[in-house]
Amino acid sequence: MTDDADPQAAIDAQREKHAHERDERVYEHTAGDDREGIPFVGAGPGHPRLLTVAGKELLEDADLVVHAGSLVNSELLEAYCDHAELVNSVGKDLEELVPLMRDAYGDGRTVVRLHSGDPAIYGAALEQMDALEHEGVPTYLVPGVTSAFAASATLRTQLTLNETANHVAFTRPQGKTLDAEDDHIAEFVGMGDVTTCIYLGTHAVADTMDRLVESGVAPDTPVSVVYHASWPDEDIIEGTVGDIGEKIDDAGYRASAMVLIGDAAAGAGYERSYLYGGWANQGDNDTETESPSDDD
Ligand SMILES: C[S@@+](CC[C@H](N)C(=O)[O-])C[C@H]1O[C@@H](n2cnc3c(N)ncnc32)[C@H](O)[C@@H]1O
Repeated sequence: MTDDADPQAAIDAQREKHAHERDERVYEHTAGDDREGIPFVGAGPGHPRLLTVAGKELLEDADLVVHAGSLVNSELLEAYCDHAELVNSVGKDLEELVPLMRDAYGDGRTVVRLHSGDPAIYGAALEQMDALEHEGVPTYLVPGVTSAFAASATLRTQLTLNETANHVAFTRPQGKTLDAEDDHIAEFVGMGDVTTCIYLGTHAVADTMDRLVESGVAPDTPVSVVYHASWPDEDIIEGTVGDIGEKIDDAGYRASAMVLIGDAAAGAGYERSYLYGGWANQGDNDTETESPSDDD
């Protein structure tokens, strides 16, 4: 990086720049467009087929792929990046990653930054993008399938279900990064009609469940855990707030699992939606007409 730019200063400068005026590029492109710069691509949950078409094309064109280590399935790297230099970002800080990508891009190489799932969820993509932009390197995002969606597909359910789960929370438990007062899992679960999807919490399932019980959540509340959703060694462990901690400890999983709390994840009953009900078939059934229940 340039001598005067430490990463936090670069992030602050970029945020300041856009605080009063939106980046013009926001209005010039859709999320599916190929663009100038370094794409920050969501690799999806693991299975190579769950990468987007845009992501696959970008990887196939890349000279350098900086990827998220063991969170990205090596089968995906083998399938689409066998011609590219591969760099594992794990253990590298911004001071190392930003100059690496900046210099490669400056040398005319095609660079892709590959994050697991979708970069917008617990991805720390934006700080790399801001630091690169501050160094004059354009960047953009290419979405991916987040692991909560792979887990719900594995469980053959929806995260929202009419009358059962009206909301979804993407969250993480307290720990080194999140203070106890910012841990809202008990509030989400306590609402009753939320499917709570816990990222980054595999190592702390038992503690998380203990805290839920202490805060009054019923121990028989259903919990489904999907380890390595969409990977060859995918595993499903189902239980309740009262017993899932012990089951996960017994299985030995300490990372890479999605913890889903709530009735929808457990495949509970639900009410049929309006969308395919009598309401939708009454009168002029114009598919262009939007209604609040269009996607129910
Ligand atoms: C650093 S976060 C990255 C999340 C990623 N950006 C996403 O959208 O899925 C890593 C956490 O995502 C979850 N995760 C990632 N891949 C997963 C998978 N294939 N199956 C289940 N959980 C996964 C785990 O909770 C893991 O601790």
